[in-house]
Amino acid sequence: MVAPSQEVSSYCAEILASPELAREKDAIQHGTTSVYEHSVAVANACASLACALPFRISMRTLVRAALLHDYFLYDWHDRATSRPHHATRHGSYARKNAERDFAISIHEGAIIESHMFPLAQMPRSREAWLLCFVDKGISLKETAAGLWDRLRRIHG
Ligand SMILES: [Fe+2]
Ligand SMILES: [Fe+2]
Repeated sequence: MVAPSQEVSSYCAEILASPELAREKDAIQHGTTSVYEHSVAVANACASLACALPFRISMRTLVRAALLHDYFLYDWHDRATSRPHHATRHGSYARKNAERDFAISIHEGAIIESHMFPLAQMPRSREAWLLCFVDKGISLKETAAGLWDRLRRIHG
């Protein structure tokens, strides 16, 4: 399991310690990757990329929003528990849950809500654009790894 990086651990200590976030370990996001593993991987990648970019990024805001960007707290593969219009609305669900459970800023909330652009509202800050791109890259990698696993099981 992927561990939170130093930046993610230092800026998200109270989120990582929360039993609510741990609920993400029980739900799959892509392939065989849980929502928790996906969120940590996205937050870690955002932190690494922010360090390498030539312009100013609020690391605290970015990694907190990244860790909570899929904090919708249900299994979207399960029709009985999933909520309507998951693809377009889960950013809003995640933002509402994050506002309820943690002291997130308005900027962090907006970043969470826009991460599904173009299926959701357009990102309005550097941090929001960064999360939007990183999430798509990591999601693609996890989905491809899941498909590869399935193919190996069928043909292996
Ligand atoms: Fe998402
Ligand atoms: Fe995501």
